[in-house]
Amino acid sequence: MNILVTGGAGYIGSLTCVQLLAAGHTPILLDNLHNAKAAVVDRIAQISGTRPTFVRGDVRDRALLERLMREHSIDAVIHFAGLKAVGESVAQPLSYYDVNVHGTLVLLEAMRAAGVRTLVFSSSATVYAESDVMPLAEDAAKGPVNPYGRTKWMVEEILADAVQADPAWSLTALRYFNPVGAHPSGLMGEDPQGVPNNLMPFIAQVAVGRRERLSIFGDDYPTADGTGVRDYIHVMDLADGHVAALQHGHGRAGHHIFNLGNGQGISVRQMLSAFGLACGRDLPFTVAPRRAGDLAAYWADPTRAAQALGWRAHRDLAAMCADTWRWQSLNPLGYPEN
Ligand code: NAD
Ligand code: WQD
Repeated sequence: MNILVTGGAGYIGSLTCVQLLAAGHTPILLDNLHNAKAAVVDRIAQISGTRPTFVRGDVRDRALLERLMREHSIDAVIHFAGLKAVGESVAQPLSYYDVNVHGTLVLLEAMRAAGVRTLVFSSSATVYAESDVMPLAEDAAKGPVNPYGRTKWMVEEILADAVQADPAWSLTALRYFNPVGAHPSGLMGEDPQGVPNNLMPFIAQVAVGRRERLSIFGDDYPTADGTGVRDYIHVMDLADGHVAALQHGHGRAGHHIFNLGNGQGISVRQMLSAFGLACGRDLPFTVAPRRAGDLAAYWADPTRAAQALGWRAHRDLAAMCADTWRWQSLNPLGYPEN
């Protein structure tokens, strides 16, 4: 299939393009490079032996989207493009609603005009409400607590309404838990700009000497070792999940929703120890106060994806750390600027 991949130069989008090519599909990448570098396309080509078409442009540019869909005979869209920093979304909510919500509306209108009816959308576990009942299945209560999370939930509701009004759509929302890891070659991985917000890239930058030590945000949570527990999923498993969801959604009208997670909780301390094993030394840390807005523990029930997609995550914590370390140590400053 010919797949338009919005946000295709980003962390998850670029690795999904690698797995799309491996599965025999043709990705066409659209990205405005707001949070990515064009050099990633060289790495996709190096790994895949095929250089995908890359178009620098904005997902809110309806004319461009329609033109791309027609020129490339697009069969389906995977929509990664968006803004994803929780703290920034509190400070700049209007930008988040514009790019994440309005951007998706423009994309849906362009798809309808071009006759493209299959979409896979990047949603997030952040749509779920705080709960003591674990794991989280897809029908668990919703209640995002910040503007970023609300943009994801709003888009999911828009997709539900669109399918209700026009049952010809096949609209899939994938709720990612915590994506980490890199391509096993060490050629591609996460390249955060500035100080990383998330745990794994921060630990990786400590390991490579770019940061002095990790601050563990709270060790007094009601968890086994007192630190926060999350469901980390290897980005290559996540990428494979997109290929499976695309193949499932294509030609199957309706609104499809899947958790993509491991189904297992890992604490901050467990992650730090596992990374120490991968990089060969104990990594320095201090215990800092809890981070505002953080929950103690949550993880996925990934059963629905296993049953409907035949997909499950199978790369373990050691692989997540080893692959991240390979990427970080080979590319200490991330992708080259070009
Ligand atoms: P990313 O920032 O690496 O990728 C997003 C890409 O979208 C970037 O390359 C960016 O340049 C591009 N982009 C931003 N605004 C755009 C616009 N207006 N037009 C075109 N391109 C634009 O992030 P990622 O981690 O790869 O996340 C991909 C998607 O998955 C996002 O929608 C994110 O919200 C969602 N998600 C990410 C996580 C996570 O922890 N990484 C978890 C759940 C959901
Ligand atoms: C994980 C754990 C922190 C950094 C975020 C978004 C979520 C989703 C995924 C997009 C927590 C602890 C972290 C550090 C630490 N994104 N931590 N020191 O917050 O679970 O999820 O990314 O949809 O919406 O909120 O991920 O990696 O930031 O934190 O101790 O320097 O690591 O307290 O327990 P989070 P994270």
